[in-house]
Amino acid sequence: MSLHVRPLLNRFFMLPSFVLLALSLSSAQSGKTHPWSNTSLSPDERASMVVKEMTLDEKISLLHGTGMKGLSPMSPLVIHSNGGAGFTVGIERLGIPGIQMSDAAYGVRMSGENGRYSTALPSDVAGAASWDLEAGYQYGALIGRELRAQGYNMTLGGGINLTREPRNGRTFEYLGEDPVLAGKMVGSVMKGLQAQHVIGDIKHYALNDQESGRNAVNITIDKRAARESDLLAFEIGLQESDVAAVMCSYNRLWDTYACENKYLLTDLLKKDWNFKGFVLSDWGGTHSAEKASAAGLDHEEPGELFYGDNFKKAVESGKISTAELDDHIHRILRAMFATGVIDDPPQKSVVDVFGGLEIARTIEEQSAVLLKNEGAQLPLDASKVRSIAVIGAHADVGMISGGGSAQVDPPGGNAIMPPGKGNTYWQAHVWFPTSPLKSIRAKAPGANVQFDSGSDPAAAAAIAKSADVAIVFVHQWESEDMDLDSLALPDHQDTMIATVAAANPHTVVVVESGGPVTMPWVGKVSAILEAWYAGSAGSDAVANILFGDVNPSAKLPITFPKTEADLPHLKVVKPGPESRPNYMTKEPWIQIATGLAPFPVNYTEGVKVGYKWYDAENKAVLFPFGHGLSYTTYSYSNLKVTPGKNPHVSFAVTNTGKRAGAEVTEVYASLPAAAAEPPKRLVGFSKVKLNPGESKEVAIDVDAKFLSIFNVDQNAWQLLPGDYGFMIGGSSQNLPLTQTVSLK
Ligand code: BGC
Repeated sequence: MSLHVRPLLNRFFMLPSFVLLALSLSSAQSGKTHPWSNTSLSPDERASMVVKEMTLDEKISLLHGTGMKGLSPMSPLVIHSNGGAGFTVGIERLGIPGIQMSDAAYGVRMSGENGRYSTALPSDVAGAASWDLEAGYQYGALIGRELRAQGYNMTLGGGINLTREPRNGRTFEYLGEDPVLAGKMVGSVMKGLQAQHVIGDIKHYALNDQESGRNAVNITIDKRAARESDLLAFEIGLQESDVAAVMCSYNRLWDTYACENKYLLTDLLKKDWNFKGFVLSDWGGTHSAEKASAAGLDHEEPGELFYGDNFKKAVESGKISTAELDDHIHRILRAMFATGVIDDPPQKSVVDVFGGLEIARTIEEQSAVLLKNEGAQLPLDASKVRSIAVIGAHADVGMISGGGSAQVDPPGGNAIMPPGKGNTYWQAHVWFPTSPLKSIRAKAPGANVQFDSGSDPAAAAAIAKSADVAIVFVHQWESEDMDLDSLALPDHQDTMIATVAAANPHTVVVVESGGPVTMPWVGKVSAILEAWYAGSAGSDAVANILFGDVNPSAKLPITFPKTEADLPHLKVVKPGPESRPNYMTKEPWIQIATGLAPFPVNYTEGVKVGYKWYDAENKAVLFPFGHGLSYTTYSYSNLKVTPGKNPHVSFAVTNTGKRAGAEVTEVYASLPAAAAEPPKRLVGFSKVKLNPGESKEVAIDVDAKFLSIFNVDQNAWQLLPGDYGFMIGGSSQNLPLTQTVSLK
């Protein structure tokens, strides 16, 4: 939202100190015990006991947040917020703490204005590029620890919308284009986070795949295709993690707001998927009390336009039943018991800055994708290289980060302070002070390392010409609340790269982007490293890869197309003025809440998201899904597929090179022709560490669901009898092992 600023607290009266105490203490903190304090009872039993004791007003207070400037009126109680995007008052009498929510996509948000510190991890899409579920767990665990250290007990991270539209400004915040990779990864991240006793969240449910007109857009998609793509990512994420909260999205789906969509919230999420947690609306995504409640929305954020007095009146008049109200409350309390936020409330403490930097660096080292490496240009040999030209993207001072509600305030301050502004402002570019120039100089102390800004291609080429190697940093910034006009690098960077490459045949390009970029210069440079938004310790990680201290092991979670003309849609559909809130008015939330004029977006490509689209349409790509190079080589052998309920796939992978490395092994399947599906889909993966010459067997039981189609008439996954092709290798377009088996 455009106005994510901390509420002006001084507009409100102060509450007496005893109320203040009551608002912030849980039973664990106050020392009082209640029958539901008994931890041997199940979360459901404990929640039921509390619900029975609650008054109507107490119940209503748990149904909503306390407001946010620009997005809803604010309750005086917002003064007890910990400074995050959401705060729900607790019930001290019953030992129930408030819920302190913070955005935390790649680190905890708003630390600057709260006078705190947060580690900025590499962007979420980078985490997905590691294809490493253990790294995902560590990613979530770090965020969980820092949330607690800062006094929060709930994250609003967990974005998992598929990259159906790569120009989506939140691509960096999501986990790529494949439902199996994204679902498993978010599952791991949430497991790591909830293990710290923080309420997890996955979002934005569902089909919120573009930012343009997100409050008004009406998405249409074939239902089977939705179940097999975007919705499958959520289904897997839930199955993997027991995540306690799901945030419904702003958009309409099949003419109905996601947060009023009974099919999404109740039929699918709560019934078919057996989700026991609670659904909260995206900020301003609630549009009614009765309809939303009946559809399955449990909690309104950020304020109480509908889930406060309106809701109470609806209960009193019998329009909303007590049973329905109690189900919402039960789910919220259950989430709190199940994740441990009642038994083990957060204790504010000092963030482990050094530990965090270490984790941020190692995750980036596992996430930066080596896209091209002609003539073994990389790694650079520090003992031999005499001169290096470092060019572009403010590489002398920092690396770019992704914006919006995911934005982490730059640990150490913004390397390039926007004039007249503070640390971070909505949609201001934020450069983390992690300097590639410094990190490269540290690696090659004997070399003459010069920097040029790249703003004048001729000047950049001049320093490149006389250097042994030119390392060109380029960037493409993106943010929530906007979509990219184009996948091309902005600010004439394409021309700059081509000019430098013409001057020096040893040109290495390091891309800082949230998703795919087009590369008209791809054939002219010798190496390309996709570093994503590299986080707090990005420059050291990148230097470690460039100089070979780290062997790259990441693979693309998103296809890089050759040209935008190859995308399913030529342009992102933009809303007219009637479909956009006017933030200059006094109460923009009224326009959003009462409903902006819908405009249609039809996902005609259906299930063909990412590589499935390019495969089905026979379009050659720049770099395929699952692609990523290493400084060593791998070979695959001994494929054996044993049919069964969950077919068992085993094969061997061998490190045939001279360096230790980690190979992401990928398992794809083709379905019988009768399924009428795209040529292949990812059904499993495993990242394997291998010393030179070492061979390991990989065994994967493929979940039958991943081989199935969704039968809409039967409302069930269906494995069609017939021939299934299993294809194994190190990229969606390099699959040396194949075997066809018949499944029934
Ligand atoms: C975003 C959410 C975010 C929320 C709270 C919304 O505008 O879409 O992802 O969690 O704001 O900041």
